[in-house]
Amino acid sequence: MSTSAKRAVERLDVLYGLGSGRGANRPGGSEVEQQACELAARWMEEAGLEVEWDPAGNVVGRLLGTQPELPEICTGSHLDSVPAGGKFDGALGVVAGLEAVAGAGTRTRTLGVVVFRDEERGCFGSRALVEREPLPGRFVEVHVEQGPVLERAGAPLGVVTGIVGYTRREVVFEGTAGHAGTTPMAARDDALAKAAEFVLRARDAALGIEGAVATVGSLEVDPGAVNVIPGRVRLTLDARAPDAERLDRLLAALGLDPEPRNAPVAMDESMRAVLREEIERLGLPAPEQPSGAGHDAGVLAAAGVETGMLFVRSLNGGASHSPDELTSEEDVALVIEVLAAALRRLAG
Ligand code: GLV
Ligand code: MN
Ligand code: MN
Repeated sequence: MSTSAKRAVERLDVLYGLGSGRGANRPGGSEVEQQACELAARWMEEAGLEVEWDPAGNVVGRLLGTQPELPEICTGSHLDSVPAGGKFDGALGVVAGLEAVAGAGTRTRTLGVVVFRDEERGCFGSRALVEREPLPGRFVEVHVEQGPVLERAGAPLGVVTGIVGYTRREVVFEGTAGHAGTTPMAARDDALAKAAEFVLRARDAALGIEGAVATVGSLEVDPGAVNVIPGRVRLTLDARAPDAERLDRLLAALGLDPEPRNAPVAMDESMRAVLREEIERLGLPAPEQPSGAGHDAGVLAAAGVETGMLFVRSLNGGASHSPDELTSEEDVALVIEVLAAALRRLAG
């Protein structure tokens, strides 16, 4: 394996070791996320990049081009994680991006690698970045697939066609708290029973719409005692579908407004072609697939940046958002090579 790939793999281990508990624990906005960003900034400096912290806390490392006035070509991803997350989600795109930018050498255009803040809870960093001028000229994100398609196809790398539409909501159910022993069943107004019906309705609605998914991932029961009828429940809903019409149908089935949401977004055709060609140049297949996960790349694409995404094969059946997330060192080496070639080509 190249020195560059070895360094990327070692850095993934270092990042995975930050925070406490099983798996990756670097929640957006936490001290550990900040620590991870400071480490990344140090690695950027060691690689000879110019480092900027933007007002949202995003870190950008730049290798200046010979014509720095031209729009930049950027790559990058996030370093925050879900609780008990995996080693590769987000972190791979940062460490591989850094190797690819440093390895591309000085080009006509400036090359940048970005660490976006707080992706998991709603892409806060990338949303802030696209509010500022100038926007990068083009953007490529490397990310683990987080699903089983590439592993099943025997393909180390893939090209993303587009990112699903998704929305996240808080839904509150009100009831009446009361004594669990003395309140007859017929007289109860149990908030958790209403919430439970909603959870099943969400599952059934998504099952009935091809490609749609709905998840209730967090519930707060108030007052939350063994002998008190729940008086109030707050739950989170994450709902996704491959296109706007299906997302509309899913939300309507749950009695929810269509907005706010992240609309489905397509990756740029010319970026897809560049990524496919650079994968094929290594004699590898370059399958294309949509992404069911949200990504910072989706925010950049929606803001009008010509955007592409490279998926790297997830092993273990595509396990993700869990410590079982796994990608091989050989595949990490391949994606660094392909990304560096694509960046060189885009940066002239
Ligand atoms: C990001 O990981 C998402 O939830 O899609
Ligand atoms: Mn991610
Ligand atoms: Mn994630």
